[in-house]
Amino acid sequence: MASSSVFRFLILLAALVWIVATEDGRRRREPWTNGSWFTMGLVEFEKWSNQTELFSDKSRMCSRIRGLTPGQRRVCRRHKDHMPAVAVGVKNGITECQHQFRDRRWNCTVTTDDTVFGPLTFIASRETAFTHAITAAGVSLSVSRACRDGRLASCGCSRAARPRNLHNEWVWGGCGDNLEYGYKFTEGFVDIRERERKVKRGSREQGRQLMNRHNNEAGRRAVIKKSRVTCKCHGVSGSCSLITCWQQLASLREIGDYLRDKYDGATEVKVSRRGKLRLSNPHYSLPTAQDLVYLEDSPNYCVKNSSLGSLGTTGRVCNRTSAGIDGCALLCCGRGYNTKRTTVRERCGCKFHWCCHVRCNTCVKTTEIYTCK
Ligand SMILES: *[C@@H]1O[C@H](CO)[C@@H](O)[C@H](O)[C@H]1NC(C)=O
Ligand SMILES: *[C@@H]1O[C@H](CO)[C@@H](O)[C@H](O)[C@H]1NC(C)=O
Ligand SMILES: *[C@@H]1O[C@H](CO)[C@@H](O)[C@H](O)[C@H]1NC(C)=O
Ligand SMILES: *[C@@H]1O[C@H](CO)[C@@H](O)[C@H](O)[C@H]1NC(C)=O
Ligand SMILES: *[C@@H]1O[C@H](CO)[C@@H](O)[C@H](O)[C@H]1NC(C)=O
Repeated sequence: MASSSVFRFLILLAALVWIVATEDGRRRREPWTNGSWFTMGLVEFEKWSNQTELFSDKSRMCSRIRGLTPGQRRVCRRHKDHMPAVAVGVKNGITECQHQFRDRRWNCTVTTDDTVFGPLTFIASRETAFTHAITAAGVSLSVSRACRDGRLASCGCSRAARPRNLHNEWVWGGCGDNLEYGYKFTEGFVDIRERERKVKRGSREQGRQLMNRHNNEAGRRAVIKKSRVTCKCHGVSGSCSLITCWQQLASLREIGDYLRDKYDGATEVKVSRRGKLRLSNPHYSLPTAQDLVYLEDSPNYCVKNSSLGSLGTTGRVCNRTSAGIDGCALLCCGRGYNTKRTTVRERCGCKFHWCCHVRCNTCVKTTEIYTCK
C-alpha cells in the first residue's frame, strides 16, 4: 500500500518537472519582442477565418501573430477564439485615436512594422499613454460585446448584480454586455507583457512598465465608467407593462472623447528609486486610476525626424481662421502655409416646376485649401 502511494507521488513529481521544463523550453524558444501587440490591429482575421481549423488545438495561429510576448502567446493559445475580437478592438482603438487626433500635430499615424506607431512607441510620452489607453479600451469593449453576442466559448451575457437604485418593478438581467469579463480578459492579455520581464527596480524600463499598466487600466476603467444601465419597454403597442434593464456599453467614440480629455490633462510622473510612480512636480495633483500618466516629454512633432518617428506637419491641411491647434498658425508651427484654389462646379439655384421637373443653374464655386509649408 505504502509503496504504491510513493510510486504515485513519484509519477506526479515527474509530471510536474516535465511541465515546468517544457514551459521553460517554450520560453527560451520564444525570444522577447521589440514589437507591439498592437500588430493584432493589422491582422486581417477575415482572411484567416476561411481556415476551418483556425481555433483548434493544432492551429499555429498564435505563433503567426507578430509582436506578442511569450506570455501573451500562452493566453492566445488558451483563448484562440478571443483573438478576432481582440483584433477588432485594437483596430477600432487605432481608428478612434486617428479621429481624436486628426487636427493635431501628431495624428496617430500607423506604420506597417511591428511597432505599429513607429519609433514613437519607445518614447514614454503622453501620446504613447493615449495609444495604450485607447487600445485597452477598444479591446475591453470588443470582448465584452463578443461575450454578449455568444461568440466566445468562455463567457456569455453579463451576470452583474442588479443595481440597488433600480425601480422595484423593473426586470433586471436582459442579456447585457459582459463588462466584467471584458475587463478581466483585457487585463490578463494586455498587462501580462508588463509583468513578464524582470527589470531593475527604479530603472527607466520599470518606469515604462508601470506607466503602461497605469494607462491600460485607465482605458479599461473608461469603458466601465461610460457604461450605463439601459431599459426598454415591452407590452402591447408600447403600453410599457414590462420594463427590462441591462448593462450597456458606451460607444468607443464616447470613450475616446473622454480619454482625449484625459490626454489633455495627463500627469507627468517619474519612477522613484523604490520602484513606484511619483509626481515629477509635487505641486501637481495626484493622478487617479482613471487619469493618464507619462514619463517623458513629447518630441517636437513639427519637424520631420525619422529617427524619432515624427512625420512633421509639412503638407498637412490646416484651417486658416481657427485659433486652435487645427489652425494654420499652430499646426504649421509658424512656418506659414500654402493656398491652393480649386474650383468646383455644382448645381445651384434649383427650381421646382409644376409638375414635375427640377431646373438648376450651374455655379462655379472656388474653395481654398491651406496646407502647411
Ligand atoms: C530590440 O531593440 C534593442 C534596442 O533598440 C536592440 O538592441 C535589439 O536587438 C532588438 N531586438 C530585436 C529582437 O529586434
Ligand atoms: C483562405 O483565403 C486566402 C485568401 O484570402 C487563400 O489564399 C487561402 O488559400 C484560403 N485558405 C483556405 C483553406 O481556403
Ligand atoms: C532627431 O531627434 C534626435 C533626438 O532628439 C536628435 O538628436 C536629432 O538631431 C534629430 N534629427 C533631426 C534631423 O532633426
Ligand atoms: C497624418 O499626417 C501625415 C503627415 O504628417 C499625413 O501623411 C497623413 O495622411 C495624416 N493622417 C491622417 C489620418 O490624417
Ligand atoms: C475653421 O475654423 C473655424 C473657427 O474655429 C470654424 O468655424 C470652421 O468651421 C473651420 N473650417 C473647417 C473647414 O473646418
